[in-house]
Amino acid sequence: MKKPVSRVLVINDEPLVLREFVKGLNAAARSLDNPLGITFSGVITAREALAAIEEDGDLQAVVVDDKLYTLNQKSPKKEMSALELVQRVTRFRPELDVYILIAQEHEDEIVDALFAEAVDGYFYREERDYRGMYRILNAQVQERSRTPFYDQLKNYVWMAKDSWHTPGHSSGESLRGSPWVNDFYDFMGEHIFDADLSVSVKMLDSLMEPTGVIAEAQTIAAKAFGARRTFFATNGTSTSNKVIFQTLLAPGEKLLLDRNCHKSVHHGVVLSGGHPVYMDSSINAKYSLYGPVPKKTILSAIRRHPDAQAIILTSCTYDGLRYDLAPVVEAAHAKGIKVIVDEAWYGFARFHPAFRPTALEAGADYATQSTHKVLSAFSQASMIHVNDPGFNEHLFRENFNMHTSTSPQYSMIASLDVARKQAVMEGYKLLSRTLALSQELRAQINSTGVFRVLELDQLLPEEVRRDNIRLDPTKVTVDISSCGYTVEDLQRELFDRYNIQVEKSTFNTLTLLLTIGTTRSKVSRLYDALMRIAREGRAPRRLYRFPEIPGFTRLRYLPRDAFYCGGELVPLVDEKDSIRRDLLDRACADQVVPYPPGIPVLVPGQVITREIVHYLVGLLRSQKRVELHGIVYDGYLPCLRVLKPAEERALRRIG
Ligand SMILES: Cc1ncc(COP(=O)(O)O)c(C=O)c1O
Repeated sequence: MKKPVSRVLVINDEPLVLREFVKGLNAAARSLDNPLGITFSGVITAREALAAIEEDGDLQAVVVDDKLYTLNQKSPKKEMSALELVQRVTRFRPELDVYILIAQEHEDEIVDALFAEAVDGYFYREERDYRGMYRILNAQVQERSRTPFYDQLKNYVWMAKDSWHTPGHSSGESLRGSPWVNDFYDFMGEHIFDADLSVSVKMLDSLMEPTGVIAEAQTIAAKAFGARRTFFATNGTSTSNKVIFQTLLAPGEKLLLDRNCHKSVHHGVVLSGGHPVYMDSSINAKYSLYGPVPKKTILSAIRRHPDAQAIILTSCTYDGLRYDLAPVVEAAHAKGIKVIVDEAWYGFARFHPAFRPTALEAGADYATQSTHKVLSAFSQASMIHVNDPGFNEHLFRENFNMHTSTSPQYSMIASLDVARKQAVMEGYKLLSRTLALSQELRAQINSTGVFRVLELDQLLPEEVRRDNIRLDPTKVTVDISSCGYTVEDLQRELFDRYNIQVEKSTFNTLTLLLTIGTTRSKVSRLYDALMRIAREGRAPRRLYRFPEIPGFTRLRYLPRDAFYCGGELVPLVDEKDSIRRDLLDRACADQVVPYPPGIPVLVPGQVITREIVHYLVGLLRSQKRVELHGIVYDGYLPCLRVLKPAEERALRRIG
């Protein structure tokens, strides 16, 4: 097994003192227990320190001398030098432990100045207690690398208790001896079954009322992600979003949202009974990409709906576009509106300055993250981070428990614990590598002369060009329009011939997702495949463009009220294949979503127009394979479920 390497940087501008410290600390590390492989090195200037922090991904802690600069530069405020360095270090890599070496006793003003900073502790220089210092630093790094839940799960498995409880496979015993299904046991591996346990095992705590190892793991995660509170969710960010809505919105209360947000947000609106106010997102028509909502639209929605309880934005988007969140948060908070950011695609951002600020750092009250999408957690593992000063824990807990299975997957919880540990201990290093691979891959794709990576400039729709939007470079969108394949054929070719599965596509683009699991070999194989396809020299094909989704019409009823009506099925077209007139101006009862692109054309309670029916009929008639969620078939007839006139009369109109 690979052993960890951890380095601690000592910063002191007196070379003799520095040498003595580094030597003493290394001697202590050699002679004492050192499971994390801690070694010490030293630099004498702040500039060297910042360079080391940037370059050395194995750095886990820094020890800053408070008298830094005072011998080399005539700083009038000697204590501010250390302060400034600490601020820059913690801004750059907040996960690092920071200790201060105090030169003299009675320097309480230094401690006071650093009090507000993320300083983990102090040592008096004159004590020269290297073994004591080492023990404290070692304990601190060990604390960060702890995985309380995962450790307890392992302990329990190794205790080998007889199972008289669920699950029925009983540590895999039901499968292991079976001639029919033992292959499943062998394929999945014994620990998948050993670790699949139940709430009956008290030492594994309860996800619904955590007081033990789950609570501990969540507390460590909160510190890592810069949240006041963190909650582990085992039903994906789809559920995390719903839990927050039900906590913040009473039926009829307003939520500002982007129509282009994930379907879980729309489902959350139905479940909470909230009153959605849709903000139109920008559209890049050339590539059929739905971008961020223009800042102007967001600020105007906040101004026009000061009575809204919350606003939710997706940042970054599936295509990697990141909002400039701070001004939005400021405007929302000025009206008392809570800010929720769906960071399903951005759970790693805290661990590399290239991706920050995170939503919480920009002041958001809630952030939901699909840890499984972009870090090393199992599918469905998600985190909810809370920084809301008015957090109503009781209400949140009730809603969380309403959505949480009483039989959560314990391996999933363990994977959240481990994903957090990895992000804290080596996230910076791995993300630096991912960023380098992304740059390499971009250059290689462009060098094919046929495929072209879309950069921020090409991705940004016109309306948001001045909104300070940034691009997450781990999402690589490639223009394929010159390669001579349709996007479907290209994906098939990549899959069948080159064993490559991509993340998603539009009619003329492919999107590749790089994560901390991306390797140089994978980059080379992808480059090789694209280069070979480019060299086929095919003439460009005419590519069928999806028609643009019609603009939002109007909500006549609250989505929840409309959804719970029985309604009736009305076909989209009559026997002559013409649009059914009796559908027009009716209120839809379902959410109707063509996939791709996955944006609802209709939500429950929305008024149906001719343009919308035209659009849906056009999609049904097109040759392209599009899933149309929400369309109901009555025999061969595609129908919409709409409210009956009597149901409409009985409901309260909102618009
Ligand atoms: C923006 C956004 N939010 C939420 C989700 C749901 O996340 P999960 O798959 O973890 O339920 C997704 C999934 O694709 C998403 O794209």
